[in-house]
This record gives sequence, C-alpha cells and structure tokens, in this order.
Amino acid sequence: SSNLPLRKKKVLITAGPTYEAIDPVRFIGNHSSGKMGYELAAAAHAAGAEVILISGPTHLQNPNEDIKLIRVQSAMEMFEATTKYFSEVDVAIASAAVSDYRPRISATQKIKKSSEIMELELVKNPDILATLGSARKNQVLVGFALETENEEENAAGKLERKNLDFIVLNSLNDQGAGFKSETNKIKILFRNGTLKAFDLKSKKEVAQDILTEIIGLLNA
Ligand code: PMT
Repeated sequence: SSNLPLRKKKVLITAGPTYEAIDPVRFIGNHSSGKMGYELAAAAHAAGAEVILISGPTHLQNPNEDIKLIRVQSAMEMFEATTKYFSEVDVAIASAAVSDYRPRISATQKIKKSSEIMELELVKNPDILATLGSARKNQVLVGFALETENEEENAAGKLERKNLDFIVLNSLNDQGAGFKSETNKIKILFRNGTLKAFDLKSKKEVAQDILTEIIGLLNA
C-alpha cells in the first residue's frame, strides 16, 4: 500500500563510526554519532521494510526492536557483516563513516610511553560500499559523501567509482550539517548528473527525503 511503500522490501543500512584498535585502550575513530543512519533505519522500518542496521560504536538505542541491529567495532567487522547480508536485500544505504585505514598491528598490551616520536603504520581497509557496488545485482545502492572541499566533484567521483544509484552529499562547510548535529543539509547527485539540493532539516526529515528518492527508483 502507499502507506507502507517498502512493504516486503529488505533494507540494509550501515551507520556510525568505526574504531580501529591501536592497542587495548586506544583507537583511531571519527566524530560520527550514528544519528543519520539510525534515522534512516527508523524511517525504513516505518515504511514497512525489514531492516538490518549494521552499526559502529554509538550511544544510540535500536529505534525499534523489529530492526535487526548488528553492532560492530572496526571497518573489517563492518565489512564482514555487510557483505554477509548484501545478497538478500533490495536496498543498501551506506551512511557509516568508515575508517579508510587501520593500524597494521594492534598491540596486545597497552603501548608504553617511550621515545619523543612514535610512528604508527597504517594499512588500507577494504571499501565496503565499493565492494557492494561491484557485487550488486538488482539492488538499489546509495552512498554518502562527507566532504570539506570540491564537494560536488568528489561526490561525483565516488558515485561513479562505487557504482551507486545516487550519492548523498553533506559538507562540513554547511552550518548544522554532517556529524553529531540533529540536523543535516544534503544534496543528492544521481547517475544521470541531476543534482537535487535540500534545505537544512532534522535528520529525521532528511532520512525521509532519502527514502522518498529510493522508493521512486524502486517503482520506476
Ligand atoms: O553519524 P552522524 O553524526 O549522524 O553523521 C552523519 C554522517 C556525516 C557520518 C553521514 O551523513 C555521512 O556523511 N556518512 C558518510 C561519511 C563518510 O565516511 O563518507 P566518505 O566520503 O568518506 O565515504 C564515501 C562512502 O563510502 C560512504 O557511503 C561510506 O559509508 C562508504 N565507505 C567509505 C570507506 C570505506 N572503507 N567503506 C565504505 O563503505
């Protein structure tokens, strides 16, 4: 029905940051709170979808007990969980802020303070969204781009490289957009080059706008 436009659809969402362990007490992370992704999960559930939410470390609670919430720490764990479920879903939305690198070695004991300069060797993490982009069959695939410069150009590159239907651009140059805030300001860039700009809104309303575009693609 039009009240439940995602009935019988399965939606996978990644959310939150990843923590890349340096040793048992330290990590490399970022400022993602998970809010954007959890609002997407809540909105997809409210639209009738079966939702799998794969979340990095956050303080947020599962928006609904019917949502399958899988909590992970690192990019590698997020990669494992996401690729495990991707083939069974109709829609995947990558809103997580995944660390591009991880420490090559995670020390088993707390690293002791010693020399003035300490070097940490990093290795690249797999790109989860690009992996989905290569594997996709009929799924609708949506990514995010968090930019600080050359926003539209960078987002267009990610849309192409990761083989997405559309990419949601948010810029740290916009007040009230991006990490942590209750609000976000987005632009959506489609494969055909169309760019839709939205006003500053609550993340709940932004999630609804994104789902409306996805429902449009599913019904096209
Ligand atoms: O969690 P909040 O505090 O509410 O903040 C929301 C947000 C700012 C985190 C969110 O709106 C957002 O922009 N998420 C993507 C952040 C990001 O890491 O963007 P990126 O431009 O580095 O990555 C591009 C895309 O590839 C993203 O969809 C990302 O999930 C995905 N990616 C990136 C690297 C990687 N190794 N694997 C991935 O899947």
